[in-house]
Amino acid sequence: MSTLPKFALVGAGVIGTHHAKVMGELADRLSLVAVADVDIDKASALSAEHAYPSLTAALAAEEIDVVVVCTPTGLHGEIAIEALSAGKHVIIEKPAEVTVARTDEIIRARQKAGTLVTVISQHRFDPSTEQVLAAIAAGEFGRVTSGIASIDWWRGQSYYDSGGWRGTWELDGGGALMNQGVHTVDLLIAALGRPVEVFACTGTLAHERIEVEDVATGVVRFESGALGVLHATTAAYPGLSARLQVHGDRGSAVIDNDELAFFHATPAGSAAEERFMGTNRVISGGGAPTASSNPGMLSDAHRRQYLNFLGALAGTEELRVDLETNRQAVAVITAAYESSRTGKPVIL
Ligand SMILES: NC(=O)c1ccc[n+]([C@@H]2O[C@H](COP(=O)([O-])OP(=O)(O)OC[C@H]3O[C@@H](n4cnc5c(N)ncnc54)[C@H](O)[C@@H]3O)[C@@H](O)[C@H]2O)c1
Repeated sequence: MSTLPKFALVGAGVIGTHHAKVMGELADRLSLVAVADVDIDKASALSAEHAYPSLTAALAAEEIDVVVVCTPTGLHGEIAIEALSAGKHVIIEKPAEVTVARTDEIIRARQKAGTLVTVISQHRFDPSTEQVLAAIAAGEFGRVTSGIASIDWWRGQSYYDSGGWRGTWELDGGGALMNQGVHTVDLLIAALGRPVEVFACTGTLAHERIEVEDVATGVVRFESGALGVLHATTAAYPGLSARLQVHGDRGSAVIDNDELAFFHATPAGSAAEERFMGTNRVISGGGAPTASSNPGMLSDAHRRQYLNFLGALAGTEELRVDLETNRQAVAVITAAYESSRTGKPVIL
């Protein structure tokens, strides 16, 4: 009998289908034993023999070690908590939940269960991100002074009309900043440290029938004194890129659509040394650019995050993204919404 960890996937939509593909690629490391979706046809499309209408039904029928939560965001908590209460490990799609309070409920359930929970933040596993964070940790950017997280994407009205949950506070938790921007906000936090204050303005300018924003702008002050700019929109036709800029007094980097577009660092304790565009493609793996602005073309980074999770499960590596990590991004984003509503800065 197979001793591979047994995975159940809950939510067989756009990203659930990508998870099923990644799990197929990792068939020598894990086994997908159940797919659950309230729309049973979607579950059956990913697993003809082991499709279930709910996590509850899957848990009753199969032996499961890990539950992967790919439902609309506002349902992540209830499904993750059901899995944790049954003693399972959990992988949750981003963002962890729609509010900090609901993220904290999952954190409490995880503490009780004592199992592993990771939240997907696949761009932390991009070689470009790893290089920039390693340079910051090594002091090669000197004092990190500022950063910009900018997502200038386009989503047509049909995108918001494609699922009743999209563009709602209850299930999407927000618009361009929460759904599309959370990855880049998470990377800004990874680079600049603990956020302490947020001031923001948001608007709904190019879409109808949505409760949430399609443009968000804001500023974040970090504990270190560093300052960050937030810009997230799904109203930038035809859709450009997800971009992170990080600046310090000895180095700067720009990551554009997951690729290093600029990198200049000064190794600590040595004479000034420069690395420029041109070497970057080699450093970042040289692969074809991944189109972050195109949800149909997801990068290989989910697989890398799965490998980290499997390493943590086997006790051979540290889990690199946990609930507390993603909670910081949810806190910044929900503070931006509160600031926009009240017209005042929000202290975190
Ligand atoms: N990491 C990424 O790059 C990325 C990309 C896209 C989406 N996401 C995240 O993934 C989540 C899902 O997004 P999506 O675009 O795949 O949505 P989707 O609407 O395509 O899929 C959601 C699926 O969940 C099912 N579902 C709803 N309630 C359920 C329940 N109680 N039990 C079981 N199944 C249920 C729906 O029937 C649907 O098939 C969101 O949290 C989103 O933010 C992450």
